[in-house]
Amino acid sequence: MSVNAAHYGRVSRLLHWGMAALFAFQFLTAIVRFALPDTALEAAVWGAHKPLGALLMLLVAVRLGWALVERARRPAAINLAACVGHLALYLLMVAVPLVALLRQYGSGRAFAPFGIPLMPGFEGEIEWMAAVGGIFHGLLGWALLALIVGHVAMALLHRRMADEDVLVRMLPRRGTPSDTEGRREAGSAR
Ligand code: HEM
Ligand code: HEM
Repeated sequence: MSVNAAHYGRVSRLLHWGMAALFAFQFLTAIVRFALPDTALEAAVWGAHKPLGALLMLLVAVRLGWALVERARRPAAINLAACVGHLALYLLMVAVPLVALLRQYGSGRAFAPFGIPLMPGFEGEIEWMAAVGGIFHGLLGWALLALIVGHVAMALLHRRMADEDVLVRMLPRRGTPSDTEGRREAGSAR
């Protein structure tokens, strides 16, 4: 096991906390649309949902690749539940935007998140794509939110257990002599 196994590396932490902030805003837009339809607040925030969702799709692909590359050097899951929980988070982080993008494509309408022409659009529509997105996007989206709430609760709960403070794994390393040594041995970019 690597000397850095007590902490996630810099890139993993950046992806984790950066995406957590983006997910927070993404769910804010979904909640506003659900709870406050046809209001000025919905008009102000809902426009960000599709482009931000497309950006999250890209980021989760990068994060998944990084997690696979780094898997031998990451902290081991503290138990099976944590392992299954993180796996489920990844599955939903991929599935939720993927089915939405599938529906977007199937609708035949052009889609250019942040002005980048991702889907040119075409005449007609592909019904099964629209149906899959229509059935699963919102459903899986709310399931992801529930899982995130459970994930945060468990992280905070474990923090209260003195011998299982997993939160420090996701925080910057302290400059203890052994950590400095570890960084030197394992390279600094993670
Ligand atoms: C990880 C990224 C995403 C999350 C967490 C997410 C979450 C959600 C949630 C929870 C809802 C349900 C709102 C409701 O019940 O009214 C929703 C609705 C919607 N989302 Fe997303 N979304 C994401 C990405 C996307 C993307 C990439 C697109 C399109 C390109 C998209 C398009 C829509 C649309 C059109 C709706 C309203 C129709 C429906 O409820 O299915 N979303 N989203
Ligand atoms: C305030 C919000 C959050 C806190 C306090 C938090 C805390 C943590 C902690 C402490 C870990 C390390 C757990 C361990 O190694 O056993 C972790 C890992 C993880 N978290 Fe979070 N988290 C938050 C938000 C999120 C969100 C919004 C997502 C996804 C949508 C997420 C997805 C993950 C995943 C997949 C891992 C596994 C490591 C990785 O591949 O990045 N977290 N989180």
